[in-house]
Amino acid sequence: MQSNKRFYITTAIDYPNAKPHLGHAYEKVLADCIARWNFLLGKDVFFLTGTDEHGLKIQRAAAEQKMNPKEFVDKQVKFFKEAYSALDIEWSRFIRTTDADHEELVQKFFEKLYKDGYIYMGKYKGLYCVDCEAFYTAKDLINGSLCPVHKRKCEIVEEESYFFKLSKFQDKLIEFIEKNPNCIFPDTRRNEVLARLKKEKLHDLSVSRLNVEWGIPVPFDKKHTIYVWFDALLNYLTGIKWPSKKFRQYWPALHLIGKDIVWFHTAIWFSMLMAAKIKLPKIVAHGFINLEGNVKMSKSKGNVIDPIVLAEKYSSNAVRYYLLREIPFGEDGYFSEKALIERNNTELADSLGNLLNRVLVLIEKKFNGVIPKAKTSEELSKKLNVAKIKGYFSKFELHLALKEIFSFVDECNRYINEKQPWNSSREEAATTLYSLADSLRVVAILLWPFMPNASEEILKQLGIKPSREFFKGAIEKVKFNLLKQNKINRSGILFPKFEFKEEKIKARDVKVSVSPELKKLGLKVYSAVIEGVKVKRKSRALEKEKQEIVIKVKDKLTGKEYNRLIEGYEKIYEKLGIKVRNSVRNLVEQVLANGRLPQINTAVDSYNLVSLEKAVVVGAHDIDKLKGDIRFEFYDGKKPFVPLEEKQQRKIPENSFVVVDDERVICFADEKQCDETKIDLATKNIVIYVQGNSLMSEAYCKEALRKICDKIIAYCGGRIKRIDR
Ligand code: MSP
Repeated sequence: MQSNKRFYITTAIDYPNAKPHLGHAYEKVLADCIARWNFLLGKDVFFLTGTDEHGLKIQRAAAEQKMNPKEFVDKQVKFFKEAYSALDIEWSRFIRTTDADHEELVQKFFEKLYKDGYIYMGKYKGLYCVDCEAFYTAKDLINGSLCPVHKRKCEIVEEESYFFKLSKFQDKLIEFIEKNPNCIFPDTRRNEVLARLKKEKLHDLSVSRLNVEWGIPVPFDKKHTIYVWFDALLNYLTGIKWPSKKFRQYWPALHLIGKDIVWFHTAIWFSMLMAAKIKLPKIVAHGFINLEGNVKMSKSKGNVIDPIVLAEKYSSNAVRYYLLREIPFGEDGYFSEKALIERNNTELADSLGNLLNRVLVLIEKKFNGVIPKAKTSEELSKKLNVAKIKGYFSKFELHLALKEIFSFVDECNRYINEKQPWNSSREEAATTLYSLADSLRVVAILLWPFMPNASEEILKQLGIKPSREFFKGAIEKVKFNLLKQNKINRSGILFPKFEFKEEKIKARDVKVSVSPELKKLGLKVYSAVIEGVKVKRKSRALEKEKQEIVIKVKDKLTGKEYNRLIEGYEKIYEKLGIKVRNSVRNLVEQVLANGRLPQINTAVDSYNLVSLEKAVVVGAHDIDKLKGDIRFEFYDGKKPFVPLEEKQQRKIPENSFVVVDDERVICFADEKQCDETKIDLATKNIVIYVQGNSLMSEAYCKEALRKICDKIIAYCGGRIKRIDR
């Protein structure tokens, strides 16, 4: 049984199939902060983090790099340790599920549940997502086959398998969670789990695989390997050596995890523990960190933020401060370099760094660099509300705890400006400067969980040697008048300032050409490249402009002249003998039916607006997802085509003309464009083209192109890199 003197905190263990990103680091910074806070409270803290290294996902990632899985994970794990060290994360153990003691424990646990009748042999047939490492039922899948998370086709897997009797625990789980309202935090997550448990019948869980080599063998049936989640969850027991004395001292843990894996940690993990008669831990779930515009970081989008690069550029202090201050615990937030710099410059550099520097310079000038003897002014000390900070920590409101500490720093700044120790008598200056130096000592201790490096640096400058022992139980030193007459060590700037430079994103040029055969049919194409855009979901001004356009052109849409222009396209299809819908025709019909233009994002909406106004077919693609240049040509049947929102290859009718890059068809005739190169919120560079037919002049098409570029730049920013003039 964990006593109040001990504290065991764990994080989720990361999949090392790719390098760590800021989302992984965010979780470890949160955990490190909570661990350090408990250390300040005087507890023996054990902080476990690590990597989840078995299973198909890793096996395949290793194969892609032509490495064996162990070599591959050995290489990958270094990036995780490096990233977390760069952020001053101090774990007690970094566990890897390939560690020998863990593999042993997993086998022992599996065998125990088997002997106790909680695991049995059965047959499994199901749809499996390799990326989730999870089976799904068809009703959970998009169109019955695509993984709801990764939108990838699930594989049908049928095999003999060991099953864990999860179904036995449904009522017990509900009862436990209802009786222990604090076992899952925040409440929203607890309510979600409870609602699901009450609605959905729990089925027994397949916990072994036949054809996954990279895993821990079932000890009594070695052709099976243990299911990766069953293996991974047990890391929490290995960390403190279940069932040793250490385990009894530290258990139960606080598991800090992301909101996406709460179900695994409650339904499955709680049941596994109940089966083994082990006390249940506490689950604390944080939100997700995304990019501006709520864009998810993902390897395929190439927009992943590397925590190592960030820490090198801005220091661990600035990054930790930003992560812990910006995002309210439990909620989703987004990362913005600009916001990080703003907080660093105003809150860290101007407010805290400047205060420290002013106080130390004045102590040097007026007191020869020795902290004067005096008493801390109560006028100042009463402004610090430690109880409030403790209260915030108990609810994991780390951002509010930090805000409260900084509101005391603001009070210190107000106090120095008011007292003007540079102008006052020696005696008054002694009181003012002692009060401030003493307050900075207190602030430094309170900041240790948030920014250990800055905290230790402030203490050093105040002449205190901050060993790890100094911080054990240091909450006791969060009292005034404890600062001695130390010689100070003013050194350097604690928080350097940074300038925000709008990143000049450069696009590569993409040429758009038309084959001679298609030219003969009257098809002409004019293109432009726009670089450095920021696509948004929606813009109020653009919505207004779209409405105005619809009103302006509504009558024209059914008129002869307008329709003749569209027929110009349709004549080309007729000549080819293909049946496809023209995209302008499509747009017109939508507008006539709904009275408005569709709403996709600010880039697509911008060009649709001009497409409707001028009856021109427009195409646009994300340059960074294209391979090589673009070409309009007759389809030779060779390249694959996956249309928008379909995610599966589609056959293209004979005699079609297509738009291709070096690898695939990105658009065909004038129907849907391909999914992979579509413009979305992560797009930075766009190639855009207007297609004209024999009824449209070159000048007419170029004017439309120019107008589209202007609209995109007005609503998404960016610059024209190249345009057919
Ligand atoms: N290996 C499993 C966890 C097993 S725990 C027994 C896993 N790994 S993961 O690498 O996908 O995620 C590790 C942790 O990082 C999870 O808690 C997850 O929620 C968190 N995050 C991953 N991306 C994130 C963000 N973008 N933002 C915040 N946290 C996110 O799941």
